[in-house]
Amino acid sequence: MRRPMIAGNWKMNKTPAETVALIQELKKIHPRTNVEIVVCPMTVSLFAASAQIKGSELHLGAQNVHFEDKGAFTGEANCASLKELGVEYVILGHSERRQYFAETDETVNKKVLKVLENGMKPIICVGESLEQKQTGITNEVVCLQTKAALCGVSTAQITDCVIAYEPVWAIGTGMTATAADANRTIAAIRGAIKDMFGYVAENVRILYGGSMNDKNANELMSQPEIDGGLIGGASLVAEKFDKVVNYSDR
Ligand code: PGA
Repeated sequence: MRRPMIAGNWKMNKTPAETVALIQELKKIHPRTNVEIVVCPMTVSLFAASAQIKGSELHLGAQNVHFEDKGAFTGEANCASLKELGVEYVILGHSERRQYFAETDETVNKKVLKVLENGMKPIICVGESLEQKQTGITNEVVCLQTKAALCGVSTAQITDCVIAYEPVWAIGTGMTATAADANRTIAAIRGAIKDMFGYVAENVRILYGGSMNDKNANELMSQPEIDGGLIGGASLVAEKFDKVVNYSDR
């Protein structure tokens, strides 16, 4: 059985002080199932977040990391530092990073390997653009992104990887994929993982992301292939996030 996961991608929101306040609210959430809750604040808020979640059921994630161990990479953060702060998950290859920060399948792959090497777990984002969707090549795009990200990952490591299927046209737009479409695309992604790793693919968690919120979480989560959500906007308001976590009962 795959443990459901709801992860909040806070993006460039919440200062360290605001992070502490939001986590204090999130600690009051009582999930009705064994859903794993992950919060992913900005890098500069991780220290404050880490202290605040100690002893709670919340798990800590980062939004990016560099693929080198250390050196002349001004402005970047390395895996060792995230690990030291208690970071367990690292979001990689988010479409905003691909679009604005020149992230490529190749750099995503390097980061995936480095995160795993450091004993953390990548949340790998894949997703098609509107144009690609309209051209009918969604499955090709997301399967290629998935396979490229997982190059060199071992069979032992694959179940530490989480994939987030996030159609680019659905992120922050209020438009979601229909639950059935998301389920179908996620099944295709699982097929791609199966091509590489065999049946252990059944144990890999694949999330949906893109305008998932308290209104549509229930429907999305009732799909057999959807193991959770990567939540942007709705993760910044404790009440909404609580509802997403609890609508994800199965
Ligand atoms: P959204 O963002 O929920 O605000 O659409 C999701 C994401 O980008 O991970």
